[in-house]
Amino acid sequence: MARGGFAEVRIPHQKSKDGFLFPTVISPNSAVGFDLSLLAESIREQKPWLEALLRSSGAILLRDFPVKTASDFNEVVEAFGYEEFPYVGGSAPRTNVVGRVFTSNESPPDQKIQFHHEMSRVPEFPSKLFFFCEVAPQSGGETPIVLSHLVYERMKERFPEFVERLEEHGLIYTRILKTEDDLSSPIGRGWKSTFFTQDKSTAEERAARLGMKLEWMEDGVRTVMGPLPAIKFDKMRGRKIWFNSVVPSYTIQNDTLNDPEKTTTFGDGTPLPSNIINECRKILDEECVAIPWQKGDVLLLDNLAVLHSRRPSNPPRRILASLSNIIDECLKIMDKECVAITWQKGDVLLLDNLAALHSRRPSKPPRRIPASLCK
Ligand SMILES: [Fe+2]
Repeated sequence: MARGGFAEVRIPHQKSKDGFLFPTVISPNSAVGFDLSLLAESIREQKPWLEALLRSSGAILLRDFPVKTASDFNEVVEAFGYEEFPYVGGSAPRTNVVGRVFTSNESPPDQKIQFHHEMSRVPEFPSKLFFFCEVAPQSGGETPIVLSHLVYERMKERFPEFVERLEEHGLIYTRILKTEDDLSSPIGRGWKSTFFTQDKSTAEERAARLGMKLEWMEDGVRTVMGPLPAIKFDKMRGRKIWFNSVVPSYTIQNDTLNDPEKTTTFGDGTPLPSNIINECRKILDEECVAIPWQKGDVLLLDNLAVLHSRRPSNPPRRILASLSNIIDECLKIMDKECVAITWQKGDVLLLDNLAALHSRRPSKPPRRIPASLCK
């Protein structure tokens, strides 16, 4: 199907699922010469169609569009108009590149990252994820994706009692974080980055808001989260999903701080059966789609429908990411009612946090706005 300069295309590696292709792949209609501003305008115009595709397939790959740099990617993300989602409580070491664009995970690319829904270990998570291939790996380094409800259905069929226990008790996630980031581990984010602060009491407040308990240690902190649901219900699609981190927890590499068998337990504190977790890992691998990255690719995932992972590769590889939340009527009202004053150097803005909400509009560097919170 073609729409406003966009054309759905077929590429190798796509899988056919329930009458649609996974993921949906969209390229320029051959009659249209795209530049970046036309691409952004077309995304805004065709957003209802793109969202309908995302609802059906759970993932859209934009390929062969003129998206060359992190700033270009930021414009594409902005064109979709979703609210930015802050990465508070996430575990991957990442840094801001430009606007709302971050490195995806700075751990060494030769390490595999197991399938996960983004931020499934905390109660609030992004609804959508964007990835962008700035530098394609020569081989490997794919970001495989898998439909979460298929994993649930296969696990339920094969291990019904285990899945029933998961649904009944949920999961408790326990993890020790160092103080600073450890770039040798895909989950090596230290507590200062995790909670965006240097101050322990602020970290405690932010953790408490997520429902997470902190136990301070000599060089780090033990975090305890849960019980959290291990199986969620995707209301929009009317199906159960495998929204948990049991497989990454059991197979994490280069993490000497955490014992895999203790990092995740049933919600009643009993250990998980490692043989079943291993079988789950095989099901994820069997059901997944792994499309080799091409420079300029933009991949949009619905974080409730799709799990993602990372295959190992050798440098160079640079995949950038951006997390978004669903925009709704409330956000439109906020946009209409807000005041946005252009910053001048030296400005100090004092807000009553009970009276005013605040946000940030995208900009190009340099921009530096330090903040301070008071009781
Ligand atoms: Fe991720």
